[in-house]
Amino acid sequence: MRGDISRRSVVLALAGAAIGAPAIIGASRHAAAAFSLELAPPLRSHSRTSGIKFGCAGAAPSVQRDRILLEKIATEGDIFVPESSLKWDQTEPRPGEFDFAEGDSIAAFAARNDMLVHGHTLVWYAAIPPWVSQLTTSGEARAALERHIATEVSRYRGRIWAWDVVNEPIEPADRLDGGYRNSVWLRCLGIAYVDLAFRLARATDPQVPLSLNEYGIEYATEAAGRKRQALLALLRKLRDQNTPIDCLGLQSHLDCSQTFDRAGLTAFLQNVVKLGYRLMITELDVNDVKIRGNDAERDRAVARHVAEYLDIVFSMERPLSIATWGLSDRYTWLRQYYKRADGTALRPLPLDTGLDRKPMWAELARFVSP
Ligand code: G3I
Repeated sequence: MRGDISRRSVVLALAGAAIGAPAIIGASRHAAAAFSLELAPPLRSHSRTSGIKFGCAGAAPSVQRDRILLEKIATEGDIFVPESSLKWDQTEPRPGEFDFAEGDSIAAFAARNDMLVHGHTLVWYAAIPPWVSQLTTSGEARAALERHIATEVSRYRGRIWAWDVVNEPIEPADRLDGGYRNSVWLRCLGIAYVDLAFRLARATDPQVPLSLNEYGIEYATEAAGRKRQALLALLRKLRDQNTPIDCLGLQSHLDCSQTFDRAGLTAFLQNVVKLGYRLMITELDVNDVKIRGNDAERDRAVARHVAEYLDIVFSMERPLSIATWGLSDRYTWLRQYYKRADGTALRPLPLDTGLDRKPMWAELARFVSP
């Protein structure tokens, strides 16, 4: 019926209007006029019907002074990803001495706001305290992993949506067998550390989806091609070993000055799904450091890039979740490492520094809607 403009057509219109897509569906033009981006339902409102949870990374409420941002995180997200609070350097700074103050404040905030926590991350080469970096034997490394994973996973059992068990195990530039990343874990245990980490996590929490999380597999570059190849080989090896791993976490740190390897990425995702892995988009943001133009033009370029990427992923499988690495441009990690020639701030996330929704938000709304 004319008056019954479906929510999807509204969201389509918002996305179309937002990124300037020429082919806005006629009937929805009226809808787009009727709703501003700010009045559209929050991203989390779709997950019960679409099955796709939305979330974002952030600092713990116990240290985050920006209360308005926290309100926005709770409004938009089903899941809260600790940007740093559940990393080893924060949770076990000294052997056997645990500090979960920040993690607990995130878990409490999530509980108050009917959210889940995405556990990030149990085993990584970075964000580890000196005593871990200095491990040298397989016995020491195994003991450290056993205590750390059992303690952290049991503490948050039932409150974690999914665990990033192993983060970034692949780095072909390290020129090691398998394209594995040179890390204290690889040096002490060989690549078997990955299987061990997942078995320890599964033994502690039999229910929670367990994910291997990686970046840098999206574009038409030699490095991305090598990374896709090495990551797929590892995922295949883990499957052959019956490693208890459920998902591949696609970090999705995008750069809209780059070109997707549509065929290569599609083939990679096809093989991953064939191996029985579910997909999660875990750290989505879009680096616009090289994009010329005013804010509106850059926002449209970012939104178009997100749309192109999500089209590729969704053509293979609807991901279990989409999480952005931060919610507002105000706090993006990227600003520490990238500076635009024109001196303006980067605009990589769904909300701008004023916490208003951007065209990227409209694209996310389009994909997380049923
Ligand atoms: O909490 C301490 C604070 O007490 C201290 O005063 C301050 C002084 O430097 O450091 C604070 O810790 C910082 C932490 O972020 C929390 O802000 C660390 O130095 C800093 O290294 C850490 O950076 C994080 C980085 O991971 C390393 O853990 C970034 O915010 C975070 O965005 C980044 O996220 C990673 C993902 O985990 C994995 N994928 C890539 C992604 C981007 O690098």
